[in-house]
Amino acid sequence: MNEQEFLEYVQSGGQVETTDWMPDDYRAKLIKFIEMHGNSELMGVLPEREWILRAPTLQRKLALTAKVQDEVGHSQLIYRVVEDLGKPRERCLDDLISGKAKFHNVFHYPTRTWGDVGVIAWLVDAAAIISQKALLKCSYAPYARIMKKICWEESFHILHGRDVILTLMNGTGDQRELVQESLNRWWGPLMQFHGNPIAKEEDPMYVWRIKSQGNEEARQQFLDGYVPQIWELGLTVPDPKLRKNDEGIWEYSEPDWDELRHVVTGHGPKTEERLDLRRTARENSAWVRKAVLAEAA
Ligand SMILES: [Fe+2]
Ligand SMILES: [Fe+2]
Repeated sequence: MNEQEFLEYVQSGGQVETTDWMPDDYRAKLIKFIEMHGNSELMGVLPEREWILRAPTLQRKLALTAKVQDEVGHSQLIYRVVEDLGKPRERCLDDLISGKAKFHNVFHYPTRTWGDVGVIAWLVDAAAIISQKALLKCSYAPYARIMKKICWEESFHILHGRDVILTLMNGTGDQRELVQESLNRWWGPLMQFHGNPIAKEEDPMYVWRIKSQGNEEARQQFLDGYVPQIWELGLTVPDPKLRKNDEGIWEYSEPDWDELRHVVTGHGPKTEERLDLRRTARENSAWVRKAVLAEAA
């Protein structure tokens, strides 16, 4: 098979296994994309972890702890897929903590209030599951397969987030205000999450059928699924231009693409602090890896 035949194969819905031949460019794009996903799962637990000890009830603590464990499990699964493609997990972690590798924009921001915990679990996970569901059709079969388990768990996270938000919205005026204030801060990063609206035919990730949908398609799906729910709860979306037009397309103010670029290249408000935490954790646990690996050798 040559590169052109491979391209036609994946574009007609064909899937590839680890041991199959694949073009170098395809392998490199896969590694980059999947590694960023793994990094995001791992870094994504940090904003929520900060709230485990401050969760308002025992049940909320348990649910949040379980969610954090799920996300770490996702990163573990995903890094194994990257490893099979030729980049060991240790190198992924090296590149993450050195700032060379990227992770999703939403995990570079602070979690200021309990409202943020609800908004993250409900809306950030909702935005993420839209991308992840589309990956069920990924041309690289091992990645598509693990997405089944991941998507199942993500839908559970959304229910947990929705329940946190519903409880607050049915509470006092202060609690409702807490959610609104949090939504105001998260809306920008949520609108940036799926990336700039480049035509999918020009997106190499789509050309190789690593992704099965374009960025704008994903954002429209997010708006369609969640804006009506947000409104139903009595919340206001902080975008005066947001409306569904007669053709059923959501119109909105242009997201701040400069902010997105700035944040994902490692200049978010919490980037340094969170990477520092990862560095320290890795140093502190080095002796465990040394002992266990020496034992296994
Ligand atoms: Fe996850
Ligand atoms: Fe999740």
